[in-house]
Amino acid sequence: MSNPSLLILPGDGIGPEVMAEVRKVIDWFAENRGMAFDVSEDLVGGCAYDAHGTPLTDETMAKAQEVDAVLLGAVGGPKYDSLDFSVKPERGLLRLRKEMDLYANLRPAQCFDALADFSSLKADVVGGLDIMIVRELTSGVYFGEPRGVFKEGNERVGINTQRYTESEIARVARSAFELARKRDNKVCSMEKANVMESGVLWRDVVTEVHAAEYPDVELSHMYADAGAMQLTRWPKQFDVIVTDNLFGDLLSDLAAMLTGSLGMLPSASLGAPMANGRPKALYEPVHGSAPDIAGQGKANPIACILSFAMALRYSFDKGDEATRVEKAVEKVLADGLRTADLLGQEGVAPVSTGEMGDAIVKALGEV
Ligand code: IPM
Ligand code: MG
Repeated sequence: MSNPSLLILPGDGIGPEVMAEVRKVIDWFAENRGMAFDVSEDLVGGCAYDAHGTPLTDETMAKAQEVDAVLLGAVGGPKYDSLDFSVKPERGLLRLRKEMDLYANLRPAQCFDALADFSSLKADVVGGLDIMIVRELTSGVYFGEPRGVFKEGNERVGINTQRYTESEIARVARSAFELARKRDNKVCSMEKANVMESGVLWRDVVTEVHAAEYPDVELSHMYADAGAMQLTRWPKQFDVIVTDNLFGDLLSDLAAMLTGSLGMLPSASLGAPMANGRPKALYEPVHGSAPDIAGQGKANPIACILSFAMALRYSFDKGDEATRVEKAVEKVLADGLRTADLLGQEGVAPVSTGEMGDAIVKALGEV
């Protein structure tokens, strides 16, 4: 049998630096656990635009469709701000999500004990926090038509459309209920059914799927604005949150910051199963390309390394090995290692991106 295949797309800014650390983890698994991957690497985002005039070539798109999993670093940077919308770095990422039909975006927000004091909230509010946001990723206002800037009389009007079909809502709801069954068995669905028709449909469909297929799971509903408030007030009331594309974008950044740093959080974007039974999948850190610190060895590689751990769990059925990676991260944090984004305590000197990666790799053999 051939090795499972991975396509690595480091992207822009700190993407290549943090991905270099993931490579060390991948190599460690090949050498020490007999788990070899066929790894290929390609361009996405601004670097692809520089090389090919497009943020994602058709060839790269085709490769992404073929591999067992895609690992992405980050895209974007100020250099590309003035580009036309159709070729902005972000379009590369959105094309991957859309064409691979990665409708369920899993964004865990977990607070490592060693970092509880680091959150902007009190340690007892965030300590032990472990929630999972399931964000719908291929529809809603990100993709709805009509969209654009049009002329209306003598002024311009900007239009985007929130659009959801029943089946789009039902499939992401199922993802959330399935996950909840493996966790604390609770789902909170968030929309704005008080203002938006698409929110009314969202609530109806989630309720129907629940009644017909998952009555054993505890389901609640919240307006997304109230949900944001509750997330900062007492986040531990939540287990799995399921929500649409735009609310999920906002709420997952909010949830991420509860844990202290955006540099810590991984994500998995999953689609339907392929012929080999594995889901179509793309794994990426929640953070962006951080152009202000790119190339200086200051970036935190943990989010990207934990994204690879999610790949082990969701694509390769290696939950134990995923836990090993998570334990290794926990260990280096408990040992006091901090990249620059995690500083705050007096007298602690930051380690570099590479030093953090090396320490995690060393810890893999010790946990
Ligand atoms: C995210 C990002 C993306 C999004 C951008 C880079 C297109 O913010 O993954 O959360 O808005 O979905
Ligand atoms: Mg975002």
